[in-house]
Amino acid sequence: MEHELNTLQSQARELLAAVENSKQLEEFRIQFLGRKGRCSTIMKALGKVPKEDKPRLGQMANSVKKEIEILYADKQKSLSLITAGSSSQDNSIDLTLPGRKPEIGKLHPVTQIMNEVCAIFESLGFSVAEGPDVEHDHYNFEALNIPAHHPARDMHDTFYVSDSILLRTHTSPMQARIMEAQQPPLRVIAPGKVYRCDSDITHTPMFHQVEGFLVDRNVSFADLKGVLTVFTQKMFDKKLELRFRPSFFPFTEPSAEVDIACVICEGKGCRVCKRTGWLEILGCGMVDPEVFKKVGYNPEVYSGFAFGLGIERIAMLKYGIDDIRLYYENDLRFLSQF
Ligand code: PHE
Repeated sequence: MEHELNTLQSQARELLAAVENSKQLEEFRIQFLGRKGRCSTIMKALGKVPKEDKPRLGQMANSVKKEIEILYADKQKSLSLITAGSSSQDNSIDLTLPGRKPEIGKLHPVTQIMNEVCAIFESLGFSVAEGPDVEHDHYNFEALNIPAHHPARDMHDTFYVSDSILLRTHTSPMQARIMEAQQPPLRVIAPGKVYRCDSDITHTPMFHQVEGFLVDRNVSFADLKGVLTVFTQKMFDKKLELRFRPSFFPFTEPSAEVDIACVICEGKGCRVCKRTGWLEILGCGMVDPEVFKKVGYNPEVYSGFAFGLGIERIAMLKYGIDDIRLYYENDLRFLSQF
């Protein structure tokens, strides 16, 4: 048996070395590796060897077979390379064809802006936290001082999953989640997707926000203005006019909406700024004492500010895009410009 295996091995090596074309290779395969080939025959014969020799011979037979298989595969590969390189009659591969250029992907413009916004706030000492898109009614509304039947709920055009579960309509639930879990001082931003049942040239049902909040002793509205001014200057690389418009959010008091001069029409009035010359980029305010109470902070001791930025809006302004829906059509002619 041992002798037979050695013969099989050396004959296979010899024959395979002499193989010159695919026809010969196929003959070799049938003779050695086919169902009724020599390897199979010898494997079957293993059944009849004395028990004590079986492990040793079995191992040997296996390794001989493995070697033949590997040599066969190598030969197959080298033959196919030769064929491809030489014969033009065999036109399965045309080596004169130009190569295919691999398409290199890029980050989506919204992701790029998101990263930029986060980097600016990180440079100001904010840390980044992320929370779930599918949120409890509690964090999205209750904890933010928006009880059931509060008229402010109407502003949110909520997608409900069940009575108490929904797609978050803003990133503000992260204020409640973080405050509940940590003690001040806090300086956090929370980027992510948010959802509202709304669609036109400045709204899509899913869009991105970055929430930011800072809680400590003696935080004032001036701190909020300072942080947002630094942010817009860094974001747009220039001193941009900011406008703080009094507004209302149940979870901040006082509240404001911040506009920047429309960079598309430079304040003259266009379709995007609805002819006002201004574009709203965020909502903000001082954290409402009610929100602090719900997470167990003492509003007599702590104060803080919060803001929520719309990323698509900022990207539209930065790149001069007048239809938000372009971001989500996946047209490469659009996307590859960024
Ligand atoms: N969550 C608000 C919105 O989506 C924005 C906001 C965030 C306002 C934080 C105040 C403070 O409209």
